Amino acid sequence: MHYPWWYVPFLTSPMLIALIAVIHVYVSMYAVGGGLFLAVETAYAYRSTNSRYLAYLKEHTWFFILVTVVFGAITGVGIWWTIGLASPLATEALIHIFVFGWAMEYVFFVLEIVSAFIFFYFWGRLPPRTHQTIGWIYGISAWLSLVLITGITAFMLNPGTWIERQDFWVGFFNPQFLPQTIARTGGALLLASLYVYLHAAFYRADDPELRGLISTRSTRPGLLGAVLVTVGGVWWYLALPASAQAALAAASALNILMVIIFAATIVVFAMLYFGPYRNPEWITPGFALLLFTFGLAAIGAGEFVREAVRKPFIVYGVVLSSQILPEEVERFRSVGYLESGLWTRALVAERFPGALGGGGTIDEAALLALPESDRLEAGRVLFFNACNDCHSVADGYSSVAELMRGWTPEMIRSVVEHPERAQFFMPPFAGMPEEVDLLTEYLVSIARPYPPGLQIPGGG
Ligand code: HEC
Repeated sequence: MHYPWWYVPFLTSPMLIALIAVIHVYVSMYAVGGGLFLAVETAYAYRSTNSRYLAYLKEHTWFFILVTVVFGAITGVGIWWTIGLASPLATEALIHIFVFGWAMEYVFFVLEIVSAFIFFYFWGRLPPRTHQTIGWIYGISAWLSLVLITGITAFMLNPGTWIERQDFWVGFFNPQFLPQTIARTGGALLLASLYVYLHAAFYRADDPELRGLISTRSTRPGLLGAVLVTVGGVWWYLALPASAQAALAAASALNILMVIIFAATIVVFAMLYFGPYRNPEWITPGFALLLFTFGLAAIGAGEFVREAVRKPFIVYGVVLSSQILPEEVERFRSVGYLESGLWTRALVAERFPGALGGGGTIDEAALLALPESDRLEAGRVLFFNACNDCHSVADGYSSVAELMRGWTPEMIRSVVEHPERAQFFMPPFAGMPEEVDLLTEYLVSIARPYPPGLQIPGGG
């Protein structure tokens, strides 16, 4: 059964998800890496009885809680809203397949919040050992929640043998699980360094020794993180299904992003190493901001690529990107796309009652006999169901009106009949021949004309 569609003008809904997901990852990765950093560093400060460093760490924890708990929770809820609206079928599938995983995720989430608050609000009132233990409870539960969510998101890209066995653990420990866990743990450590370094650059510590200490200590997780990101990233590519590798190679924008990921990671590593790690006094707001921006670019590009290669399946082998199940394609082709969905049937009944045959089923041939404006409206509905998940209409991200600029009606029809033959990363069109006609007519009406005045030698 198909759900109602959600059209986000200009951006398209998947791009909105990518945007919110990238912002969320900036915060949630810090929640993990920063937690581990704070656990390690408070232990170090107690051990070396450095009360000034301990005071700085308390200051940083306040900043950390504000950013991760408040902002992280808001963007996290934002993701649930957008994926639920944009990809209801995929969201439903992931909830069903991983019920137990989500339950564990929420346990660790609650543990994280409680331990973070105890860690901060009971600072100085707990024996050092207990305080450190609370820090570790936070750090480990934050990391485990990263591991859990990675198992589920990695599944979307390559479910491996789950397709045959349908077993929870087989799905969870899919071929993408380890590489993504390594890359994300690395990203978390890398971001933690950049956040601490940025915070410290604006922190008014007049003691140069303390500044130097914060600056060198803050680089340590980042140096390890950059290595893990690189190792995990290469392994991630190797563990992709062949179609995702091909989608990555085919899209020039993604090629550029891949270069950005690796180049920015290397630059951050070099800047951390030759900057604050080797020269502790080297800590200025400008340098910290620059470093932070490079780090965000690398991680943002990585998240974006991960989202973008999921075609033609949004959950590989389980849900097509056009929000239908692979096994539904044939049935929709013989019964009709509009007829197969609760919402599309209701829409036809309301707008085009003349197209309902006996028994209230849609008579697809009668749709073709409607006046032109109604036919275009029906074609538009088909567009929003079948193509809206990757294309905007006339202006904006990957607009079909632009992609088909100057195309003849025959060319347009051939793509509608078999989008998967034009580009392997498009899902097949699951409608009857009459619906192919309606969608083609609509697309012909919106395709932009061949650029006026353009003449190419030898062109027809
Ligand atoms: C899973 C995502 C996805 C879906 C769903 C999808 N497309 Fe595409 N389509 C793409 C991508 C990606 C491209 C390459 C676009 C680019 O280069 O900007 C593309 C390219 C195209 C092109 C240009 C093809 C060429 O050879 O130049 C057309 C036309 C097109 N799509 C039409 C459609 C129509 C019509 C539908 C609905 C029936 C549809 N697409 C559904 C992802 C999708």
